[in-house]
Amino acid sequence: MREWAPQSWRSKPAAQQPAYPSAEELDRAVDELHRLPPLVTSWEIDALKAQLAGCAAGTRFLLQGGDCAERFADCTSDVITSKLKILLQMSLVLVQGGERPVTRVGRFAGQYAKPRSEDFETRDGVTLPSFRGDSVNRSGFTLEERTPDPHLLLRAYERSALTLNFIRALIRSGFADLHHPENWDLAFARHSPLAAEYAAIAKRVSGSLQFMENILGVQNGEMRWVDFFSSHEALQLHYEEAQTRQVPSHTGWYNLSTHFPWIGMRTLQLDGAHVEYFRGIVNPIGIKVGPGFTKDLVARLLDVLHPHNEPGRLTLIHRLGNKGVGDTLPKLIDTVRATGKTVVWCCDPMHGNTIATSDGTKTRHFDDIVGELEQAFAIHRATGSHLGGVHIELTGEDVTECLGGARNLSDTDLKRAYRSEVDPRLNYEQALEVAMRIGRLMAE
Ligand code: PEP
Ligand code: CO
Repeated sequence: MREWAPQSWRSKPAAQQPAYPSAEELDRAVDELHRLPPLVTSWEIDALKAQLAGCAAGTRFLLQGGDCAERFADCTSDVITSKLKILLQMSLVLVQGGERPVTRVGRFAGQYAKPRSEDFETRDGVTLPSFRGDSVNRSGFTLEERTPDPHLLLRAYERSALTLNFIRALIRSGFADLHHPENWDLAFARHSPLAAEYAAIAKRVSGSLQFMENILGVQNGEMRWVDFFSSHEALQLHYEEAQTRQVPSHTGWYNLSTHFPWIGMRTLQLDGAHVEYFRGIVNPIGIKVGPGFTKDLVARLLDVLHPHNEPGRLTLIHRLGNKGVGDTLPKLIDTVRATGKTVVWCCDPMHGNTIATSDGTKTRHFDDIVGELEQAFAIHRATGSHLGGVHIELTGEDVTECLGGARNLSDTDLKRAYRSEVDPRLNYEQALEVAMRIGRLMAE
């Protein structure tokens, strides 16, 4: 294998990187990031890898979810707790349906940069760089706001640290105690059509816990609180490089900005900078595989990124769409099987199902999302494989961005509370409903 270093990606073509006007300012920001403490630890990363090995083996299930893009302005107590609440509620539903432990990974504490299909945006004859997320530039449509600013990398690091600090404190003070799922209730959800079904599930889980503790005398940390891991698309390689470190008494290089970085579909080039960076880190990693990926490319990606077939190392997140999954997934499963490697199979039923309404609003239909999930479970089962997890864009807020669901949201409803500046997210109720469907699919 060729030599690797945290900066060796710099000699490869890097897709989707911002065009910073000043190399010196970028270097200064990256130097500072390099000196700042890590956001996560190697022990946590190793623990997640071990859990993901369970997801690959079928004894655990991965729930990865959160916003398409975090916003600096959303680094607030309410938004963070709502996100944790919906992920906790969903995981409770999955534990109950699938009768196996669930690993919770948030798309948070670093999910600030977005790939864009167009480098520039034109409005009324004025052309400016596209908005690439809060860690790159600002969404307002002026040259000043759209010019990439390396100091935003530092602001993103700080927001990520604040988010993780709050989440860790909440968890350690009992917020995520499985005995008190009532802590996770959202006020506006009391009148939800799903409230009764969810309450029954929560009660069954509490009942089982009580049984284990009273009758079997089991009582351990895992049962009192649950853990959360962080993840983001490792898009801005300067940021990732600066947090890539060696750690005493561990071998290899850890990306300590997050537990679980993934490569987005638009930056997954075999000879590109992202694959070069990822091949050298020891974190568990995800790759987003879309409909156009050839057998040869997938096999060679596994060669480079998963050479030792280490348990839990690689999660293959397929995002094929409700229409494409039936045709493409069986071939993808065959391709991976032919390599002899084990991966965590994870279904992202969001990114292959994005459509635009007649007025150009980006949305997704609940039925397409569930349709892709149903097919993914069935195809894995039919081919002797198993789906080890799901990857979902959601929010704990009461937004209207995706169509359908229990309240059957329509085109006109989207106008009411559409807040995403990038991809449409399932709202609280739709996310819980998806979890209930997944729980049933797991139980089949
Ligand atoms: C995303 O996860 O927000 C994303 C851009 O996904 P993909 O790379 O699968 O298109
Ligand atoms: Co997205």
